[in-house]
Amino acid sequence: GSFGVCGGAEREEKKMKALASKAQVIKINLVFLGFFLVIYVALLLQPPFLYDGAGAATVRCSLRDCHMKKAEEDGNGVMPKGEEKRRTLPKKTIPSFPGKQRWNARIGLVNLGEDEVKAGAGQRAVEVRFDRVSEQFEWKHLFPEWIDEEEDNEGPSCPEIPMPDFSEHEEVDAVAARLPCRYPEAGWARDVFRLQVHLVVANLAVRRAKRDGRGQVRLALLSSCRPMIEIFRSEEMVRREDGWWVYEASVGRLEEKVAMPVGSCKLALPLWGEGTNDEFDYSKFSIPMAPPRKEAYVTVLHSSDAYVCGAIALAQGIIRTGTRRDLVLLHDKSIPDPKRRALAAAGWQLRKIKRIRNPRAQKNSYNEYNYSKFRLWQLTDYAKVVFVDADVAVLRNLDLLFHFPEMSATGNDGVIFNSGIMVIEPSNATFAMLMEKRGEIVSYNGGDQGFLNEVFVWWHRLPRRVNFLKNFWSNTSAEAHLKNGLFGVDPPVLYAIHYLGLKPWLCYRDYDCNWNVADQRVYASDVAHRTWWRLHDVMDPSLQPFCGLSEQRKTELDWDRQKAELAGFPDAHWKLNISDRRRHEKQTPHDPLTRSRR
Ligand SMILES: *[C@@H]1O[C@H](CO)[C@@H](O)[C@H](O)[C@H]1NC(C)=O
Ligand SMILES: *[C@@H]1O[C@H](CO)[C@@H](O)[C@H](O)[C@H]1NC(C)=O
Ligand SMILES: *[C@@H]1O[C@H](CO)[C@@H](O)[C@H](O)[C@H]1NC(C)=O
Ligand SMILES: *[C@@H]1O[C@H](CO)[C@@H](O)[C@H](O)[C@H]1NC(C)=O
Repeated sequence: GSFGVCGGAEREEKKMKALASKAQVIKINLVFLGFFLVIYVALLLQPPFLYDGAGAATVRCSLRDCHMKKAEEDGNGVMPKGEEKRRTLPKKTIPSFPGKQRWNARIGLVNLGEDEVKAGAGQRAVEVRFDRVSEQFEWKHLFPEWIDEEEDNEGPSCPEIPMPDFSEHEEVDAVAARLPCRYPEAGWARDVFRLQVHLVVANLAVRRAKRDGRGQVRLALLSSCRPMIEIFRSEEMVRREDGWWVYEASVGRLEEKVAMPVGSCKLALPLWGEGTNDEFDYSKFSIPMAPPRKEAYVTVLHSSDAYVCGAIALAQGIIRTGTRRDLVLLHDKSIPDPKRRALAAAGWQLRKIKRIRNPRAQKNSYNEYNYSKFRLWQLTDYAKVVFVDADVAVLRNLDLLFHFPEMSATGNDGVIFNSGIMVIEPSNATFAMLMEKRGEIVSYNGGDQGFLNEVFVWWHRLPRRVNFLKNFWSNTSAEAHLKNGLFGVDPPVLYAIHYLGLKPWLCYRDYDCNWNVADQRVYASDVAHRTWWRLHDVMDPSLQPFCGLSEQRKTELDWDRQKAELAGFPDAHWKLNISDRRRHEKQTPHDPLTRSRR
């Protein structure tokens, strides 16, 4: 009937052009609306004729996924118990595993039904059941911005992620799993259910390997998304086959990871001994450790030599903590010879790299080459690396960080970690993956921090004190009092201070020049400034000239001071006379140290 109305409308229009009224337009619109509604409902209900036969290929979700969506809609959020009748899709054949021995054993199925897979000859597939996390459970519950890490109140706690009863699966020899993948939906990587399935698989694998002391365990993971590299090392992926990612996972590494809290809702590293107010005694701290392996502190300098002084002071700080790890500095061609010699004299082993461009960055922007940090993953002669930014001052021994798996870092804001200090595990496969994703992943700040936070969404929280950010976000005297107390105390309680804003070596030593720049004042702390200069003053005198000021930088400092005076900032740092000798020292023409300010 509806098309009749349409035809009628045309005839009417011919007869009475002048009377073509709004009412008719509305009618036509309603008709079309009705038509599309019918199609819409048909698609939504997906009656069998859309499903059957060859049509199966066009169905977007697997049966298990569709089925579970319905289960959620029922509001229980619990994995179905499996008695329900499932429609039949072609069964997935579990891939064979490499190596000589046949995989003639019991296979634990995670998020996969027994009727969905075809086991090989002699294989027996057994479902591993667990309660699915509720839809209300969001990533930010696992990665809160702030936790009570100093245990002023109850101390931090994590929400529970349901796990299977592992005692029922003691006999499992290998694991096959379907990993949820909501890509390219926004936020697909921060999916709690996806993490849950990964953790179930990892825990089964670790338990299986512990049983007979074997170091390896075989996994077959079905997903159109790459399995989380935070859990399954890219190195250990041996093959892709028909939608499956096949792994031979080494259990030592996996064990380190399942020993971590489920999110940054708890510290990876306890700060206080249990039930005491004393700082934790790290010598008692034990997490499974492989036999002695090569480890290093590493920093990266690229695109300009503005951070050379920072890197010298950084080496100074690290060496003074008595570490026996290597110090490695990656640099590109922007560091001239005399400065390279100074860096080596400061204790760095230098390695030249080719810097890496962010294909999404604007040409000649200040962070165009910030992806150079990816080269850290190419240091495969080291099992673990603690990366430290050159604008960090290390005050206490950080060797305990080598106990932690990739990716361990301190919180920045929201669910994001700060990339100023990171524990990473070099790997050519991870490096290749980072390079491959350069074009696809959008970094929220155009820098490496934004990028790495999209790749390593599951990270482990180190205490704030490991990488204490020099900023004051609340603009209260309470915050200033607390933080300045920590920045200044000697012997230090902070492990490292991260100098955000204008760097101390680009200011006069008299005060923190962040005070004089309107949008940098949140980073200003004279106490932290003095702490950095103490480190400077114990540097070898032959290295101190590498912290000089260029004529241009002196002009900028003067300019900022005048603007601060005009603005009349109430802290009145602009009134202070400068006694810093560097004000009158000329830099040698070959050593224009600071070309730009960041
Ligand atoms: C990683 O790649 C480099 C060369 O690209 C090679 O020299 C090194 O041995 C590789 N490391 C491992 C562990 O395979
Ligand atoms: C890019 O690198 C420079 C130099 O290391 C640093 O000052 C800047 O903060 C970085 N930018 C971002 C957005 O990470
Ligand atoms: C910080 O507080 C002072 C007064 O306590 C106020 O004058 C100033 O505008 C505040 N700054 C910001 C950035 O909110
Ligand atoms: C800075 O120096 C001038 C002259 O040398 C002096 O009059 C003034 O009091 C000094 N200001 C401060 C804050 O010390």
